Amino acid sequence: MRYKAYVFDAYGTLFDVHSVMEKIHGHYPDQGASISQQWRERQIHYFLVRQLIQGYRPFNEITRWALEDALAFSDVTVKPDIVDDLMKQYEKLKPYDEVSTFSKNPPDKTFTIFSNGTRSMLEPLLNHNKLTETFDLLSADDVQVYKPHPDAYKYAQEKLGCKKEEILFFSSNPWDITGAAAFGFHTAWVNRKEQKWPELGIEPTYIIQNLEEIPD
Ligand code: LAC
Repeated sequence: MRYKAYVFDAYGTLFDVHSVMEKIHGHYPDQGASISQQWRERQIHYFLVRQLIQGYRPFNEITRWALEDALAFSDVTVKPDIVDDLMKQYEKLKPYDEVSTFSKNPPDKTFTIFSNGTRSMLEPLLNHNKLTETFDLLSADDVQVYKPHPDAYKYAQEKLGCKKEEILFFSSNPWDITGAAAFGFHTAWVNRKEQKWPELGIEPTYIIQNLEEIPD
C-alpha cells in the first residue's frame, strides 16, 4: 500500500452541502436551490477573505454570515429562528452514498477528516450519520488557519505523523486540492459533476468520479 494516511475534506466531499435544500424549500418554497448555491458560494468566499486578511473567525460564524447574506440576497424575510433551524440542519447533511461503504474497508486503511469546519459543527454531523468510528477528525479551527493556506496542511501532516507523499488527500473543491498539492500531499480530486479541472497551474494526482475506488 502506497499511502499511510487517507485524508478527506468534509463539506462537498463526504457530505452533500446541498442536502439542506429541502429544508430551505420548507421555509422558502421553490428557492431552495438558489439559496443553497448562494450560501455555499458566500461561505467559501468569506473564509478565503478572512484567511487573506489574517483575521480568522470560526467556520460556524462564517457559515451563519453566509446564510444570512444568501437569504437577504434572495429577498426573503430573514427570521432568526429560520437561520437557527437551517444552521442546525448543517449538522444533519447527507453523506454521499459511497461513504457508507467505508466502514467495510480493510482495517489497514485509516481515514481522517481534515476540514475547515469547527469541531462543534463536525462532531454532531459525524454522530448524526453514525460515522464517528469510521473517521478520525482534524479541524483547521485547531490551529485557526484555513485551508488552502500551507500551514493548515502542515498541521494535518504533523498530527498524522507521515511524510507528505505518504498522505492521499481527497476533496471535491479545486481550491482545496490545489492547496494540498502545493503543500506536497498526493491528491484525489472527487469530480462528481465531471467538470474540467480549472487552470490553477497545479494538477491533482488522481481525478476520480466518486469515492467508490480509493487509490492504493
Ligand atoms: C471543508 C470544506 C470547507 O473544509 O471544504 O470541509
